[in-house]
Amino acid sequence: SEVGHEVCCIDIDQNKVKKLKQGKIDIYEPELREMVLRNQKKQRLEFTSNLKQAVNFSSLIFICVGTPESTEGSADLTSVFNVVDSIAKEIKEKKVIVIKSTVPPGTGLEIQSLFEHKLKNKNLSVQVVSNPEFLREGRAINDFMEPDRVIIGVEQKSVKNKLLDLYSLLISDDKIIFMDMLSAELTKYASNAMLATKISFINEIANISDFLGADIDLVRKGMGNDKRIGFSFMNPGSGYGGSCFPKDVKALISKAQNFGYNPRLLRATDLVNRAQKKIIFSKIVKIFGDDLTGLKFAVWGLSFKPETDDIRESPSIELIKSLNKAGATVSAYDPKAINQFKQVMPKNQPLLTYMESKDLCIEGADALVVMTEWSEFQVSDFSFIKSALKTPIIFDARNFLEEETLRSLGFRYFGIGRGRNAQ
Ligand SMILES: NC(=O)c1ccc[n+]([C@@H]2O[C@H](COP(=O)([O-])OP(=O)(O)OC[C@H]3O[C@@H](n4cnc5c(N)ncnc54)[C@H](O)[C@@H]3O)[C@@H](O)[C@H]2O)c1
Repeated sequence: SEVGHEVCCIDIDQNKVKKLKQGKIDIYEPELREMVLRNQKKQRLEFTSNLKQAVNFSSLIFICVGTPESTEGSADLTSVFNVVDSIAKEIKEKKVIVIKSTVPPGTGLEIQSLFEHKLKNKNLSVQVVSNPEFLREGRAINDFMEPDRVIIGVEQKSVKNKLLDLYSLLISDDKIIFMDMLSAELTKYASNAMLATKISFINEIANISDFLGADIDLVRKGMGNDKRIGFSFMNPGSGYGGSCFPKDVKALISKAQNFGYNPRLLRATDLVNRAQKKIIFSKIVKIFGDDLTGLKFAVWGLSFKPETDDIRESPSIELIKSLNKAGATVSAYDPKAINQFKQVMPKNQPLLTYMESKDLCIEGADALVVMTEWSEFQVSDFSFIKSALKTPIIFDARNFLEEETLRSLGFRYFGIGRGRNAQ
């Protein structure tokens, strides 16, 4: 709608729709609210929970529902197939159905034949297209408005032209890569798996660096300046989280295994990540011992990364549960994600409290653990922090604090792979 198209959005969550109609947005995403309000005002963007209205609004329908991880690790496509049922029920004319949800290769073809079966009696046809989404939470608007490329899986010329028309208001044609549906679906999984693998790779090197007493910052600098390698997704940390990398790597593993293929590299990426989520806890235990009863830890950062309130698969979940299980009290703070975080944590946990500010959070704690690199954490008054903590110890799960400054202020500092100084 920002570039002039008329858009009608439907969700089965009526409460979400009601709030969106009033210009209220449930999630934190920079600049999103302003953009929604702007386009609602221009009457180019509307929200509804009325199925008939939504299905017949346009000849192009995007499916963007969630495809979470199932208990076996494959993608749970229940919501996608529910949408297919809904469209088939209400459809009155020919449509192009664009799958934006991340779905395993083969899903588009399956949906195409499902529609053919369901619409046989109506004498109607639809064309299914794969158009996977690559935006990042926290930068969603910029990523969507200025994508590196747009992948479209469709072979019919008329449908290609329809999508070219749609995207031409947003990007130049040379940024659109057309391919078959299976390849488009695999491109999405392969891209996420590649990025996840880069993260697991640098985490593995960081762990080795810790054992050696080497400095991962220098290793990363040395590696990243090789143009073939680069710096992106090469930041050591406490493992990747979020709604995409963990589930997409596992779904691709599951899909490959269905064909009898053992995806060794993808399994290693996932394994390294699971272990990495425990790395900060193991550093804490190394300093304070197994039994943390009577100790208090301040945790800054609950979302899986900054500039979002998404806590899905956030490393902070596992860390805080482990600290509580070992008897420690946790005082937690996040600029945006506290409400979301509360919903996935055990209720009535007396050892866990949420604080309204980063300063209140550290009062009387035995150590500060920084889990997410929100910029407000970087500009902290560390002299004040030192006086508020019982012992001046900082665990930095993102290697984003100034290690030398902290050490000169008298802190004991533990990052990831900054082994040279961690002894
Ligand atoms: N979140 C991201 O950054 C991101 C990036 C790229 C791709 N994706 C992919 O996009 C898809 C959606 O991800 P998300 O994070 O927005 O999921 P989400 O779970 O946050 O949102 C999905 C929405 O779909 C609605 N819904 C479910 N069933 C419905 C139905 N039958 N009819 C109408 N609405 C229905 C839900 O109520 C919910 O509001 C996933 O496949 C994901 O992998 C997400």
